[in-house]
Amino acid sequence: MGFDLKEYLENKRKEIDKALDSFLPEPEGLSAPLFEAMRYSVMAGGKRLRPILVLAASHAVGGSSSVSMPAACALEFIHTYSLIHDDLPAMDDDDLRRGRPTCHKVFGEAMAILAGDGLLTFAFEILAREAVKERENSEKVSQVILILARAAGIKGMVVGQAVDVLMENKEVNGSQLAFIHQHKTGALIKASVEIGGLLGGADQNQLGALSSYGDGLGLAFQIVDDLLDIEGDQEVIGKPVGSDLEKNKATYPALFGIEESRAQAHEYIHSAISALASFDEKAEPLRAIANYVIQRNR
Ligand code: IPE
Ligand code: IPE
Ligand code: MG
Ligand code: MG
Ligand code: MG
Repeated sequence: MGFDLKEYLENKRKEIDKALDSFLPEPEGLSAPLFEAMRYSVMAGGKRLRPILVLAASHAVGGSSSVSMPAACALEFIHTYSLIHDDLPAMDDDDLRRGRPTCHKVFGEAMAILAGDGLLTFAFEILAREAVKERENSEKVSQVILILARAAGIKGMVVGQAVDVLMENKEVNGSQLAFIHQHKTGALIKASVEIGGLLGGADQNQLGALSSYGDGLGLAFQIVDDLLDIEGDQEVIGKPVGSDLEKNKATYPALFGIEESRAQAHEYIHSAISALASFDEKAEPLRAIANYVIQRNR
C-alpha cells in the first residue's frame, strides 16, 4: 500500500486543531474581544502546513509527535499573526481570509493588530514554558526559540514583508524577488522543518538535509501562492483572487510569466525531494507534502 497523503493530512490537521484549541485562552471578561479575535483567525481553518511540517520532520528522524506539538502550535500562531497583519489596510488590504471576512473587518483594525501581537508573543510564551518545564530538553528548546525568532523576525518573515510592501509598483529583478519570497514565506516553512528535525533528534547531516528541503519547499510554496492569486478559485482558496495584480505586487508570474513560474516551482520541489535522498520511508510524508505543494489548488 502506498502512502495516503490525504488521510495523513486530515489526521494531522485534526490533532493540530485540537492542540491549538486547547492552547488558546477562552474569551472572558475584559479580555474577551482580544481572545475572540485571536480564536477567530486561528480556528478559521487553514491547511496547517507549518505545524504538519514540524510533525512530519520530527517523524522523519524517528521523533514522537507529542514532543513537537507545542512547537507545531507556536508555528501556526506566528503564521496566523502574519496573515492577520498581511491583510490589514496598511498592507495588502484584503477582506477575505480562510473563507471568512478578515480579522480587521470583523473586530476592527486595533483589535486585529493586537490579536496579531498577541499570537506572536503567545507563541514564544508556549516555547519558553516548555524550556522551563522540560529541564532535560531545555537546551534543545532554546535552540528552537532561536531558530523561530530568526525566521519570524527581522532576518526572516518581517523583512520579507517589508520588502514586499516597499516593492509594490516597482520593477524587481530575479534576485530581489527571490529575496522577498524566501523571507516572507520561505523562512517560516524552513524553520518548521528544522524545528521538527531538531526536536525529533536529527543529527547534523539530517538537519542540513532538512534545511535544504525547507529551502526548496518554501520558495516553491510562495511561487504557487502567486499562481493561485491568478488561476485560483476564490471559493477554494478562501481569499481574494487578483489581489497581487491590483496592488502591482512583485510576483513570479508578473516577472517570469505563468509557464516559467510553474517550471521554476517544479525545479525547487525537485531539489527539495532530492535533499531527502538519504532518508528512509519515515520521510515519505515529507516527500508527499512536497508533491502536494506543487499540485495544490488551495
Ligand atoms: C498563506 O499561507 C500565506 C503565505 C505565506 C503564502 P497558507 O497558504 O499556508 O495559508 P493557510 O494557513 O492555509 O490559510
Ligand atoms: C504573504 O504573502 C506572506 C505572509 C503572510 C508572511 P501574500 O500576501 O502573497 O499571502 P496571501 O496571498 O495574502 O495569503
Ligand atoms: Mg502580502
Ligand atoms: Mg496578502
Ligand atoms: Mg499571495
